[in-house]
Amino acid sequence: MKNGRGRHWRIKTMWRNLSKYSPLFVVLILSCVAFLLRNIYSLEKLDCKASLYQLQQSITAPFRTRSPGQLERNWSNCSSHGLVLSPEEAVEQEHLLKSIAWPEPHLPVSSLHHSSSPSSSSFSILPLENDREWRVGDHLEVLVHMRDFRDRPKQHGGDFLLARLHSPELGAGVVGHVVDHENGLYSVLFWLPWAGKAHVEINLVHPSEAVQVLKRLREDNPDRVYFKSQFRFGPFSETTICNLCLSTQLPSCNYTNHHTGEPWFCYKPKLLSCNSRVSHSKAGYLKHLITSREELFFQRLVNLKVPIPSSGLDSITVLKETEEKPNGAANLDIFKPAGFYYKEVWRPTNDVLLRQFDDTAAVTRCLEGKVLRIYGDSTVRQWFEYLTTALPDLKEFNLNSPKNVGPFLSVDSVHNILIEYRCHGPPIRFSSVATNQLRYVADELEGVEGGSNTVVVLSIWSHFSTFPVEVYIRRLRSIRAAVLRLLDRAPGTLVVLRTANPQDLDTEVSLYNSDWFSLQLDAILRGMFYGLDVVLVDAWEMTLAHHLPHALHPPPPIIKTMIDFLLSHICPEDTSAFP
Ligand SMILES: *[C@@H]1O[C@H](CO)[C@@H](O)[C@H](O)[C@H]1NC(C)=O
Ligand SMILES: *[C@@H]1O[C@H](CO)[C@@H](O)[C@H](O)[C@H]1NC(C)=O
Ligand SMILES: *[C@@H]1O[C@H](CO)[C@@H](O)[C@H](O)[C@H]1NC(C)=O
Repeated sequence: MKNGRGRHWRIKTMWRNLSKYSPLFVVLILSCVAFLLRNIYSLEKLDCKASLYQLQQSITAPFRTRSPGQLERNWSNCSSHGLVLSPEEAVEQEHLLKSIAWPEPHLPVSSLHHSSSPSSSSFSILPLENDREWRVGDHLEVLVHMRDFRDRPKQHGGDFLLARLHSPELGAGVVGHVVDHENGLYSVLFWLPWAGKAHVEINLVHPSEAVQVLKRLREDNPDRVYFKSQFRFGPFSETTICNLCLSTQLPSCNYTNHHTGEPWFCYKPKLLSCNSRVSHSKAGYLKHLITSREELFFQRLVNLKVPIPSSGLDSITVLKETEEKPNGAANLDIFKPAGFYYKEVWRPTNDVLLRQFDDTAAVTRCLEGKVLRIYGDSTVRQWFEYLTTALPDLKEFNLNSPKNVGPFLSVDSVHNILIEYRCHGPPIRFSSVATNQLRYVADELEGVEGGSNTVVVLSIWSHFSTFPVEVYIRRLRSIRAAVLRLLDRAPGTLVVLRTANPQDLDTEVSLYNSDWFSLQLDAILRGMFYGLDVVLVDAWEMTLAHHLPHALHPPPPIIKTMIDFLLSHICPEDTSAFP
C-alpha cells in the first residue's frame, strides 16, 4: 500500500515537473506525427536500428522508383510559364515554325506495306537520255521515285532523304539539296565541284510514316527524357524529378532563370528545402512510347538510313571547265553547299581559304595571346579535347571537375593561350552537374570581356531534340541577344557557332535523337543567326559529305576539319607574309 501510494506520489510529482514542459512535448509529438504521416511509405521499410543513412535511403527510394510517366502532366500548361512574346518575337517564331513545316500524308498510314520502302524505291540521273556532258560548276539533277513495300508509287511527300555525291578515288564528297515535290517524287540537286568520277548516294533516313511518329512524340511526350536533382542538407539527401514542365498536382521548386526567363522545375523534396539542390543529372528515358506497328517504321537495314538504289546509272564523269564557258561560282545561286571535300581536305565555297594546320606549332602560333571560350554540349567539348591533346604546351588545369562534364580549363602560359569549356544549362543530359556549375550560355556571355583576342564558340542542339521547337527558339533568342550585346560592347570578338550533325541511328536512338529533330533545330539556328556577324561551322555538311560513318561525336578527321576551319577564321591566310 505504502509502496503503491509512494509510487503514485512519485509519478504525480514527476508529472507536475514535466507538465512545465508540456507545450514543448505537444510540439514535439505533433512534429513526430507529421513526420510519420508524411513519410509513411518510407518508414514502412525502416527497422528500429535504422541509421541515418538508411533513413535517407528510404526517403529517396520512392522518388527513384516512381516513373515520371505515372504523373499526369500537360505540357501546354508549361508554354505559359513566364513566356510572353513581344509582337516581333511572335512574328519571328511563326516565320521560323513555318520554315520547318514538314509535309504530311493526307491520311495517316499505319501499315508497313503502305509505308515508303527504300529497296522498292529508286533514283535516276537526269536527263535519262545519256548524252549529257557535265562540267565542273554545273549542277546534276537526280530524281527519286518513292514506292511502298508493295511496290506502289507513293502519292505524298514527307520522306526524310539525305544525299551525297562522292568519289573515293579522289577523296571527294559534297552534299546534295533535296526538294520534296509532295507527290512521291523528290529532286536532288548537286553542285559539281571536281573533275572526274562522281557517285550518287541517296539514303532514306526515315520514311514519312516514321517522321509522323517523331512529330507526335515531340508534341505529346516532350518529357521522354527526364532529369533529376539531388537535394542535400547535413546527412540527409533526397532526389526528385526535374524538367521544363512538371505536373501541377505536386508541389514543385521553381528554378526559372531570372535573367532569361527560361523555365526549370523540380518536384519539391519532402523534407528539404528548394534551396538545398546540389546537382542536376539525366534521370532516364521513357520507354514503350510507340506501338509495335510503329516500330516497324524504324528498322535498321529495312527503312532506317538505308540507301535507295539507282534504276540505271549511279555515277557520272565530270569534265574540266572549258575556257570559253567557265561555270565557276555563278551557278551557286541555284544551290550552294558550304563546301566539299577534295583529296580529303574541306574546301569552303565562301571566300575564306581553308588553311591546313597539320603542324602543332602553327596552331600554337595562331592561338598565341588568345582566349577561347567554348560553351555548349559534348559535340563542342570535342574541340576542347582535340586542342588540349594536340598542343604540347597547352596543359589542362586540374579543376577537379567530373569527367566529361566540366568545366574544363587549359592554359599555355608560355604563349598566353587560355581555353575554357563549360556545358550549357538545362535541359542537359550529362551525368551529374553541380548546381553551382549549371549556367546558362546567355548568362556566361554577359561575363565575357571580349575583344579581338577572344573567340567564343557555341554549340547548342542535341539536348533540345526531345522538346517542342519553341523551347529551342526561346533558348537561342536569349543567347542571340547576349551575343549581340557582346559584339556591341567588344567589337572584334569572334563568335563561332557549331551546327548540328547527322549521327548513327537505331530504333531507340531515333525516338530521342533522330537526325530529323537535329535537322529541324539546325534550320532554326541558321534562321535565327542569319546575317549576323558570326561564323557558322557547318558540322552538318562536314559530316554528311565525309565518307566516315555518321556519329553523334564525329571521328577525329572530321573534328580536325572543323578545327582547321575555326583556325582559318582566327588566323586568315596572310598573303603579305609571302611576297
Ligand atoms: C493545367 O493547368 C490548369 C489550370 O491552370 C490546371 O487546372 C490543370 O490541373 C493543369 N494540368 C496539369 C496536368 O498540371
Ligand atoms: C492540356 O491543357 C490545355 C489547356 O490547359 C487543354 O486545352 C488541352 O486539351 C490539354 N491537353 C491534354 C492532353 O490534356
Ligand atoms: C517561376 O518563377 C518565375 C520568376 O522567377 C515566374 O515568372 C513564374 O511565374 C514562376 N512559375 C511558376 C509556375 O510558379
